[in-house]
Amino acid sequence: MTAISTQSVPVIAIDGPTASGKGTVAQRVADALGFHYLDSGALYRLVGLASLQAGISTDSEQNLVPIAEKLNVIFQGDRVILAGEDVTDAIRQETIGKRASEVAIHPGVRAALVGRQQAFRQAPGLVADGRDMASVIFKDAVTKIFLTASVEVRAERRYKQLIAKGFSANMSVLLQDLRDRDARDANRSSSPLKAVEGAHHLDTTSMTIDEAVNQVLDWYKAR
Ligand code: C5P
Repeated sequence: MTAISTQSVPVIAIDGPTASGKGTVAQRVADALGFHYLDSGALYRLVGLASLQAGISTDSEQNLVPIAEKLNVIFQGDRVILAGEDVTDAIRQETIGKRASEVAIHPGVRAALVGRQQAFRQAPGLVADGRDMASVIFKDAVTKIFLTASVEVRAERRYKQLIAKGFSANMSVLLQDLRDRDARDANRSSSPLKAVEGAHHLDTTSMTIDEAVNQVLDWYKAR
């Protein structure tokens, strides 16, 4: 039997800033095509959470790398299990999102997560959501999308998500936090958030989720 190279498995890379709605769009595109879905931000959030539980500072690259390498995680449908504990909701908290963006600046942490992300590339295809999907992890993605929305709309979307999950949230704190995170993601030296050449720009500020999903599907089909 000949093994099919995973390199031939199509990848749709969707990159963009935090709370841009790319997770929802990516998941819906994956469902529509019957593709697998990678939420790469969840891995950084898991390192943020696991390091917090271990009492490790987000400044300490040398202590964070082993945590990233040994992350004992299982993705079970839409649940995320870390060392036997269901952390699906815990990793969505703002404190963990902030820690995720702090651990993500370290090249060693990023390197430790590369293989885990590439392993999601399985037939019949993958929709990968993150910051460096098109620029680093899946450079040969067949369709590359840079998905954005205004910071105000993103804060509003994140606010609604948090309230729906039963967390408390404050709009002005959220806005400031998103701005800080945008700056950290765009200005770090290791794999900063940026649109690659050839990426389709999708500004979803005044779009519905359905419109955004259909646009991505159209670009994929027209490739
Ligand atoms: O997408 P999400 O908000 O869950 O990501 C949390 C943090 O993880 C981001 O703010 C970013 O700093 C980091 N991240 C990253 N590279 C990715 C995905 C997420 O640096 N591919």
